[in-house]
Amino acid sequence: MKIGVFGLGYTGCVSAACLAQLGHQVLGVDISYKKVKLIENGISPIVEKELDDIIKEQVNNGRLKTTQNTGQAVGFSEVILVCVGTPDNGFGDIDYKQIERVCGDIGDALRDKQEFVTIVIRSTILPGFAKNIIFPALELNSGKRAGMDFGFVLNPEFLREGSGVYDFYHPPKTVVAAGDTKSKNVMEQLYKAIDENIIFTGFEEASLIKYVDNAFHAVKVTFGNEIGRLCRELNVDTRAVFDIFLRDKKLNISPLYLQPGFAFGGSCLPKDLRAMTCKAGEKNVELPLLKSVLKSNEEHILYAYRLIWKSGKKNIGFLGLSFKSDTDDLRESPYVSLANYLLADNFNIKIYDRNVELSKLVGSNREFIEKTIPQIGNLLCDSVEQVIAESDMIVIGNRVQDYEIALKKMPEGKKILDLSILNKSGDFNKDEVDYEGICW
Ligand SMILES: NC(=O)c1ccc[n+]([C@@H]2O[C@H](COP(=O)([O-])OP(=O)(O)OC[C@H]3O[C@@H](n4cnc5c(N)ncnc54)[C@H](O)[C@@H]3O)[C@@H](O)[C@H]2O)c1
Repeated sequence: MKIGVFGLGYTGCVSAACLAQLGHQVLGVDISYKKVKLIENGISPIVEKELDDIIKEQVNNGRLKTTQNTGQAVGFSEVILVCVGTPDNGFGDIDYKQIERVCGDIGDALRDKQEFVTIVIRSTILPGFAKNIIFPALELNSGKRAGMDFGFVLNPEFLREGSGVYDFYHPPKTVVAAGDTKSKNVMEQLYKAIDENIIFTGFEEASLIKYVDNAFHAVKVTFGNEIGRLCRELNVDTRAVFDIFLRDKKLNISPLYLQPGFAFGGSCLPKDLRAMTCKAGEKNVELPLLKSVLKSNEEHILYAYRLIWKSGKKNIGFLGLSFKSDTDDLRESPYVSLANYLLADNFNIKIYDRNVELSKLVGSNREFIEKTIPQIGNLLCDSVEQVIAESDMIVIGNRVQDYEIALKKMPEGKKILDLSILNKSGDFNKDEVDYEGICW
């Protein structure tokens, strides 16, 4: 393929050199005269393992060329990769100047191009920007129509500096949002040698996934560092703790506990988080991430409260009250907290939990619920059907089969708010039932 790579920074340089190494004809474009000249002379403008040798080899065999001329590059290319910077604007938001300008210039040059070209945005951009700004800018400047006269694709970049070449050939995943079938085929062709399992998705999802990944990586590093600081101050062997922690692939390094849904609760997670951060405080170790977890959890409960408040419904039925299904443990259940917020604001509450019978609750569990919701006896119902009949909004806490069966027969005019976790949600057709999930 004939590929134009716009922006010869960390991302563009690696892509340009490796694509040439794969046998494509690559024309790299940058506004920096210095970068263009360095590559022209077979020298990498950035420090990146193996990149110097690849650039030298590909420049010598004529597959990698550079220019500062946008028109020349657009005229040459069947595919254009946009890899310009999207830095911080100094206030936390993205500075879109580079990408706005390059897309404007590409659009101008497209006016004179007869052949179909696929424009691929590899720069990191927030949801909405591609569709609302770049896309129309390309159309306006070129006088052509996306999807008809030129193709438009979002293809976020996941390479890591320092192992960029390795990551190019072994990407953790390849994510593509393609606006038309021709461009989808072009992307399959482009990645054939590297990754045959392209994940095709929507534009907004492709934009956001890069941020989600980076946020998670940042949280992982910070979590590790906070635990490390705590271990050090408690004279606990950090290496031993982390070795054991990482060996657990069932609960720790796994998709478990990594699904959007409702707040956590129960008799262990909140208590142990508090104990840990309390101990850290005694030792003067600041653990802001761990300390903020309970605050964030509470915010999630309040978010559910606001969704209910906004719905305008006053009679709220809970299906499930214990902190998770298949237990009668109500201690620090987030559903109990939510019910309490609603009761304080004079909502009428009805509750059914197939595992909770007041007369059978004992010990600290009974003590907790009687202290937290003294009128609990008046709120508990004998059946799912009773809760559904007496409520105009049903809050699904625990997703169990008998609740679902009853909800399928729910009379019209009632609303469902699903607080169960994402991988247990679904099944309700939004066209047939007034249904919404807390995170979807
Ligand atoms: N650096 C990484 O490891 C990495 C990884 C994944 C994604 N990304 C994303 O990729 C994008 C590029 O990042 P980078 O680190 O390579 O940026 P960079 O700043 O190193 O390079 C950007 C290049 O674009 C050039 N440029 C700017 N305007 C131009 C124009 N109109 N025409 C041609 N060239 C132009 C600049 O001169 C510069 O050489 C960013 O959105 C970034 O968030 C970066």
